[in-house]
Amino acid sequence: MDDLYLNFLNADEERADGLAKVTGKAKFTADQKVQGMLYGVLVCSTIAKGYIKNMVLYKARNAPGVVDIFYYLNSLSVPGFKPDDKNKNPYRGLKIFHNNIIHSNGQPVALVVADTYERAVHAASLVEIQYHQEPHVTDFDKERINGSRLKSPEIYERGDTEAWQKGDARVSLEFNIPIETHNPLEPHATLAVWEGQDRLTVYDKTQGPKVTQAELARMFGLEEKNVRVITEFVGGAFGSALRSWPHVYAAVIAARKLGRPVKLVLTREQMFTMVGYRPQSWQRISISAEKNGKLVGIFHEAVSNTSSYEDFREGIVNGSQFLYQCPNVTTRYQILPLDINTPIWMRAPGPATGAVALECALDELSYALQIDPIELRLINDTDIHPVSKLPWTTKYLKECYALGKEKIGWKNRPALPATLKENEMLTGYGMAVGWFWAGRGMANVKAILKADGKIIFQSAVSDMGPGTTTAMLKIASEQMEIDHHLIRFELGDTDYPFGPMQGGSGSLTAVGSAVIAACEELKNEIKKSAVEHITEFKSLKPQDLIYQKGFISSSTKDSLKYHYTEILDKAGKEELNVTKSSGWFERSGKYEAHSFSVHFAKVRVHPETGVVHVSHIVSVADAGKIISYTTARSQMIGGAVGGIGMAMTEAAILDHRYGRYITANLADYHIPVHADVPKIDVLFVNKEDRIISPTGAKGIGEIAIAGVAPAILNAIYNATGKRITDLPVTPDKLIERS
Ligand code: MOS
Repeated sequence: MDDLYLNFLNADEERADGLAKVTGKAKFTADQKVQGMLYGVLVCSTIAKGYIKNMVLYKARNAPGVVDIFYYLNSLSVPGFKPDDKNKNPYRGLKIFHNNIIHSNGQPVALVVADTYERAVHAASLVEIQYHQEPHVTDFDKERINGSRLKSPEIYERGDTEAWQKGDARVSLEFNIPIETHNPLEPHATLAVWEGQDRLTVYDKTQGPKVTQAELARMFGLEEKNVRVITEFVGGAFGSALRSWPHVYAAVIAARKLGRPVKLVLTREQMFTMVGYRPQSWQRISISAEKNGKLVGIFHEAVSNTSSYEDFREGIVNGSQFLYQCPNVTTRYQILPLDINTPIWMRAPGPATGAVALECALDELSYALQIDPIELRLINDTDIHPVSKLPWTTKYLKECYALGKEKIGWKNRPALPATLKENEMLTGYGMAVGWFWAGRGMANVKAILKADGKIIFQSAVSDMGPGTTTAMLKIASEQMEIDHHLIRFELGDTDYPFGPMQGGSGSLTAVGSAVIAACEELKNEIKKSAVEHITEFKSLKPQDLIYQKGFISSSTKDSLKYHYTEILDKAGKEELNVTKSSGWFERSGKYEAHSFSVHFAKVRVHPETGVVHVSHIVSVADAGKIISYTTARSQMIGGAVGGIGMAMTEAAILDHRYGRYITANLADYHIPVHADVPKIDVLFVNKEDRIISPTGAKGIGEIAIAGVAPAILNAIYNATGKRITDLPVTPDKLIERS
């Protein structure tokens, strides 16, 4: 295993977009400029519920450089906001500037447009709003216990629903995880440019240009082909750019009303209230097992919040249904509407939260049974999916345990908690599993082979940072057997063929499969041209020819070979181009597909102050074949850092008196800094999954974070004997006297 790891390190690895990013050449949405562009700055509600009685705008209107101010009385009538019987999927999001009703603190209520950004910021500060305030409900814990607002229960039952109370050992735990925000480095931004009444070009931070194109077309009653969305570079997103938020519409509305391009960039504060977040959650898990470690019953219930105007749910409890072999499983999940903005998927939506409960419960059970936590997982491992009874396409969890156990030094883990000290620090080890759905979505890729030997691939996917561009170059260069410097992969523009939303760790398999198909087709086209235009091959059929390293020959040994550039030259063609599709992964009742990960953590805890130092993380991934080691490793490291944040530092906190975030800045919302992040070792099983797709890959982005937080919590328990179940683990929680 270690050999593979070393091979990758020695390989010629590059980041396709690295130079552009570090030299500042890369244009992110906020960097885009067009002729005659104006700047919009949003004014946001300072109450959580009620309505606007009056807006005092004259001071802002008279401020220097102000062009106009848009709000509910002078906005565009957006076709997509109107109820439509024919539309099976009506718009449920916030209808910006549609009426005077306030649904959340921080809701955008006006857009000030000026000739410079600074002047727009200043004028926005001069807008005065009088509200009629109504009582708001933002306290998740209080409302969950009260229970009257809980809605849409989703119940799953298998076997005996009381089994969690039986067995030789039983564990019951409750977990509270606060709201977490994505807060990518790059803020959300939109630059809207109308060309006439029915053509719209939008530069937008989005994880799916094609999805944004479809949404904008629908909202503004345009034909999709008349909407172009451009997203050259994305500076992180983690899920926040999986839909078009109201600010996107605000820019489009203003640009339309003014007949001039309008750029709108969210402030850091607005990043907390306008582009979603991981919902707050409560979970209770009860789990029982026989003496030999075999699970008897699991009962896992969860509640997570949504907004008052839109339902958002995620698969928090699903993993408990299938991660382990257990005859009796009950899960229950409900959502709780609050007067705050709508959540959205955030890195490993569902499993990141669910793993905290399931994987800590298993850890707790391991102590009760006196069975090593890894051993306990092996005892309950399953080769078939316990819900559907289908096999997994591939599953290498056992390999993950073995690799990680070695690397972290699991043999040093004390069997009894709070018994190991290093330099007077309580020291412990923990591990946990992560999982996420894998598959292959639809993607189209166009390949253009140029007479000069270069090949350009195009797809309307975006690359939010995982390294899609690099991975596609690797795949194409392997398929075409040519140096990757001869290849370009162009993305982030709806003028290119359909590319999927970059989400759910699915871009690589979808787009990569289409790249492979396009390469196959290119090779066929080259062979066809060779038969037509090369005298020596005229008597042959295309399938008699062999493609090797850019050359066509009639047999591998034959010295008679022609490079594709010569063939194009003889054919008198400037280029060859083909467009191919990935096609959906046909589960067709035969397989289940998941990526898996196992994370290990070592922590040191100060016995007096309760300060935790995460001193080592080992993340092992069963993500199929690793296409680009450099970028895959970076994704794993980023996920581990996110997991450290989830366990140790991150919490978006509301002041319920005002229903307002008091942490809406990166000084008070703590993401891990360098000092919080230890050495992170990343290991890959690197075994291909050819059932899902010809790329052999599964997916990495989500399993990189899912399981990290519980691994740390389990290490803290091992170090201190304290089971912390309210995240994040601030020192006060460890020095509380029980
Ligand atoms: Mo991911 S939460 O699908 O960006």
